[in-house]
Amino acid sequence: MKIGCPKEIKPQEYRVGLTPYAVRDAVTAGHEVLIEAGAGDGAGFADADYTAQGAQIVDTAAELFADAEMIVKVKEPQAGERAMLREGQLLFTYLHLAPDPAQTDDLLASGATCIAYETVTAPGGGLPLLAPMSEVAGRLAPQMGAWALQKANGGRGVLMGGVPGVGPAKVLVLGGGVVGTHAARIAGGMGADVTVLDRSLPRLRYLDDVFSGSFRNRYSTAGALAELLCEADMVIGAVLIPGAAAPKLISRAMLADMKPGSVLVDVAIDQGGCFETSKATTHDDPVYEVDGIRHYCVANMPGAVPRTSTIALGNATLPFVLALAGKGWRQACKDDPHLAEGLNVHAGKLTNLAVGAALGRDAVTPASVL
Ligand SMILES: NC(=O)c1ccc[n+]([C@@H]2O[C@H](COP(=O)([O-])OP(=O)(O)OC[C@H]3O[C@@H](n4cnc5c(N)ncnc54)[C@H](O)[C@@H]3O)[C@@H](O)[C@H]2O)c1
Repeated sequence: MKIGCPKEIKPQEYRVGLTPYAVRDAVTAGHEVLIEAGAGDGAGFADADYTAQGAQIVDTAAELFADAEMIVKVKEPQAGERAMLREGQLLFTYLHLAPDPAQTDDLLASGATCIAYETVTAPGGGLPLLAPMSEVAGRLAPQMGAWALQKANGGRGVLMGGVPGVGPAKVLVLGGGVVGTHAARIAGGMGADVTVLDRSLPRLRYLDDVFSGSFRNRYSTAGALAELLCEADMVIGAVLIPGAAAPKLISRAMLADMKPGSVLVDVAIDQGGCFETSKATTHDDPVYEVDGIRHYCVANMPGAVPRTSTIALGNATLPFVLALAGKGWRQACKDDPHLAEGLNVHAGKLTNLAVGAALGRDAVTPASVL
């Protein structure tokens, strides 16, 4: 199959859909790979890195979209890209159609088959093509929070690990899922005193079994939160209620109980945030203050580390890219019902019931078009 990977054009997006390592595997499997010139620049992959693994470089997105049978990207296609999609073409990328009727209309009109990373599932549960970005955001959260805690950056002036004779920073992590666990591990590794709150007892048992030496956990109640909040130097928000806005666990009034200059890192900001005072910020101006408390609320945290994020995403997408290219999308989805869950649009039909319900549109099951 002819696989094409264009340069991402969404503002501040430096990731790329295929790494040179993925190109090598695809070429070895007998596929042709087209990369748009400069596509890997933001992630530190030069055109020469791709050609060394067997890719062909094409000058423009227009040439790439015209020639490739499958397009592999990171972000949802922008309006100009959607106009270049055609009937029978396969698109494999993040789509997030539920809040985006304009994109949905264009994809339906294109006649293309569109598989969304975010709805592909895994045999053991979870979302395997979202998890790598949660891992990145989780590990980045204490790093950004530690920076914001520094006095020159408006923070309380506390060092994560303390020093001999001086206690460490206290870090409270709300939600012990993928983001929260990775955040707690890194904060613990920096020497901080870390407590994770979650309201799932099975999850707390797992955290206790695996990480009891590195951080503590508590059941998430308003009382436990109030008790821990007044001692915290940093709070990392990492809760998720699937399909719903994040619960507001810390109100504005509760900020008065916190130490001045302490830091809130709201990773759940992409679901509306779990602090009442959170509003989305960008990498250009990531931190603001409310009532003496510093807030870091960047909605696309993995964008800060596009090289790591690109490789992590590529590791997760590669088996699916190879299956789709090797068998064709229909057979690959027949063989793997978890990949079939990713099917969102096919030949003018919405093929994801949840997306259809969110948009108030008719939709069919993926199985009905296989
Ligand atoms: N800002 C970013 O760049 C970025 C990047 C990746 C993920 N995220 C977001 O981070 C959030 C967490 O993602 P995840 O992959 O860790 O989800 P997850 O489902 O793995 O974990 C969420 C956890 O929150 C817990 N939870 C739910 N309600 C709670 C409550 N009231 N108190 C305590 N715990 C509660 C759940 O039991 C679960 O363990 C999501 O909103 C996700 O979209 C943001």
